Amino acid sequence: MLPVEVIARKRDGGVLSSDEIRQFIADYTDGRVADEQMAAWAMAVYLRGMTSTETAALTDALRLSGQQFEWPSDAPPRLDKHSTGGVGDKVSLVLAPLLACCGVWVPMLSGRGLGATGGTLDKLCSIPGFRVDLGFDEILRALKSVGCVITGTTPGIAPADRKLYALRDITATVASIPLITASIMGKKLAEGLNGLVLDVKWGRGAFMKERAQARALAQQMVAAGQRLGVPTSAVISDMNQPLGKLCGNAAEVIESIAVLRGDGPADVRALTLRLGAEVLVAAGLSSGVESATTVLQGHLDSGCGFERFEQMVAAQGGRLAELPALASPSELASRRKGSVAAIDTEALGLAIVELGGGRRQPGDQIDPTVGLEYLVRLGDHVEVGQPWIRVFCRPEQRERVRHRLEAALLVTDEPVAPPPLILADGLAE
Ligand code: URA
Repeated sequence: MLPVEVIARKRDGGVLSSDEIRQFIADYTDGRVADEQMAAWAMAVYLRGMTSTETAALTDALRLSGQQFEWPSDAPPRLDKHSTGGVGDKVSLVLAPLLACCGVWVPMLSGRGLGATGGTLDKLCSIPGFRVDLGFDEILRALKSVGCVITGTTPGIAPADRKLYALRDITATVASIPLITASIMGKKLAEGLNGLVLDVKWGRGAFMKERAQARALAQQMVAAGQRLGVPTSAVISDMNQPLGKLCGNAAEVIESIAVLRGDGPADVRALTLRLGAEVLVAAGLSSGVESATTVLQGHLDSGCGFERFEQMVAAQGGRLAELPALASPSELASRRKGSVAAIDTEALGLAIVELGGGRRQPGDQIDPTVGLEYLVRLGDHVEVGQPWIRVFCRPEQRERVRHRLEAALLVTDEPVAPPPLILADGLAE
């Protein structure tokens, strides 16, 4: 089919065959489909959607547009986790070394911050010297010596996705479940995995504001992974408040280390253990979530997880002892007495960006020392004057974020039930 026919078929709500999708993406990668045509097609997909079969074909086509990691035949199983992003989500920093303690390899390719959500690479880059531009040979070396690596997507991985994502970004076609599925899974599946777990977040600090959207995205991503031969599991988790307490770049490294040392907030630990257990079960390396959780908890308690983290940092050139101290703290107090009913979590993430902890424009320098400490939880009782958030920034920056933060807290007279961290019914309707 000509590109114009592929666009017209989708525009009219038709279904494309897997071969047609693969050819269209291959032609785009080679420059035989123009950006204008791809943008029109992306809008058609945005408006008309895709079947699961089409979504899996698009995922595969994006994956095949570039390099696939090829592992030695005697390599241990490769596992990974992907999160759709949130505020305070530092799970990758804890989970990668914990899984490495189980004898698997974790070749985790991560991203930078996006909008209000922090990026794993930006957090790790607050450790002086930490490199996130490893080539495949360096990844392999780190995996052989440590068992885990967290680095940026190498330029050879899914180049069609890089071009397509840049187009979607400027044509209002990002928020499409099939396009998000194919984009995320196309890159992940190029890692040559034996198991993948997805942390699909829903709520005020997430990409997906509604549970139903998060569930639909999780279902599509799991279906694409399974169809393409990678055992994939998903957890739908709450992002109506930050995960843990500390948010920001160096701040999240500090909290991750606390968790790896057997301390730190209970929600970070619980979500990390659950995601780790899910992927061990999905890959057939454990018989059940409960026994896998016990194994992972053992690696936390023994100090193995922290040891692997230190080794990973050193293998990637980082000097953990030189992690910068956080900027000076100040607190904001609740102006009402009552129950913490809602937190505009996205506003907290944007406050960090405003302080310099994220980018306003591509290429901006990040200040690793700024951040927030969230001192309450949804459902908590607060008194007038009780501090609910601590801000780490330069004194002259405080006023800049004060209004945004004050408007982010809703306190009501009625008691509020805290939301579950993980949706108990999983992907079921
Ligand atoms: N992250 C990605 O990599 N792709 C998307 O489409 C959305 C988020």
